[in-house]
Amino acid sequence: MSKSKNRVFSGVQPTGNLHLGNYLGAIKRFVALQDGHECVYCVVDLHAVTMRQDPEELSDNIRNVTAAFLASGIDPQKHIVFNQSQVSQHAELAWMFNCVARMGWLNRMTQFKEKAGKNRENASVGLFSYPSLMAADILLYKADFVPVGEDQKQHLELTRDIAAKFNNDFCERIAKLGFGDSYFPMTEPLIGGPAARVMSLRDGAKKMSKSEASDMSRINLIDDPDTIAKKIRKAKTDAEPLPEEVEGLAGRAEADNLVGIFAAINDVDKAAVISEYGGKPFSEFKPALADLAVEKLAPISAKMRHLLAEPDEIDTILNEGADKAREIAVVTMREVREIFGFVGAK
Ligand code: TYM
Repeated sequence: MSKSKNRVFSGVQPTGNLHLGNYLGAIKRFVALQDGHECVYCVVDLHAVTMRQDPEELSDNIRNVTAAFLASGIDPQKHIVFNQSQVSQHAELAWMFNCVARMGWLNRMTQFKEKAGKNRENASVGLFSYPSLMAADILLYKADFVPVGEDQKQHLELTRDIAAKFNNDFCERIAKLGFGDSYFPMTEPLIGGPAARVMSLRDGAKKMSKSEASDMSRINLIDDPDTIAKKIRKAKTDAEPLPEEVEGLAGRAEADNLVGIFAAINDVDKAAVISEYGGKPFSEFKPALADLAVEKLAPISAKMRHLLAEPDEIDTILNEGADKAREIAVVTMREVREIFGFVGAK
């Protein structure tokens, strides 16, 4: 596959159940980008092991994320779907980027601070250098666009910083070897829409997350219709009806979140939802949201279950995807080694 101007890369960690935030903030948008882009979608298992994982659960989760990609409509024949650990160039480029990125840059990463918690001394070195691996994922394929949820924004800024420093540190060498005036592109994050940050159903100030203790805080992609409906019915709200204007959602985090979810599932903006439900009480809006969520999510979870019944077929798709990814990755790595000045025939 040769490089075109509109390559998309993104990744999802195989750590626990995928939820509505992962789906609306990322996977649903991956599906939409397939038209007109060359997409590389990766199950980032090397990122997963920055925190301790049970090996058997990890294998299951790698297949679960792959099944979610496929069930949502990602086409592994036209695009590339694979798991990161099968393409060793990710780890290799991450090492090079560890030598480009500065300690101060990584020290500022808020996600590291959140994940490491109070006991930073006990966090893995991998968790600290996680953003270098993420930059490697993206730049190995010289991706132009990266669709992600809002929580990844800082990591994508760091990816651009690493690309810029690499291009700058080696500018003479890059030109001398005939790669022009820069080697890596300035990747653009694609963050936006009404579900860039889906919040917990129990607390509008916290993002919906796999690691939140209460399962009622999130809708999992594999939840059955009754569970989805129950979680929406019990979602925290305030006592007021929905506002008549979209501006009225400001300061009403829970209402804003539910309207955003409705909008994203239905491919409209929040204003369109408000024009239909503005002034209506939650007793009317919640059942409509539950029906919509069930209508759109139930076929995906049914398809996931169906795919997961044939794990060998999922593994074949991952192996074939890894072969296609490697074809691109080896070229980048060969050139990066040359730029650094390493000696050898590969
Ligand atoms: P991860 O696995 O935590 O999440 C996968 C995707 O889901 C998005 N997301 C959300 N979007 C909206 N609302 C939420 N509550 C919500 N929770 C999660 C994430 O923003 C993400 O897009 N570091 C990444 C994985 C990664 C990656 C990459 C992404 C590794 N290498 C290269 C892009 C490019 C992560 O942990 O995502």
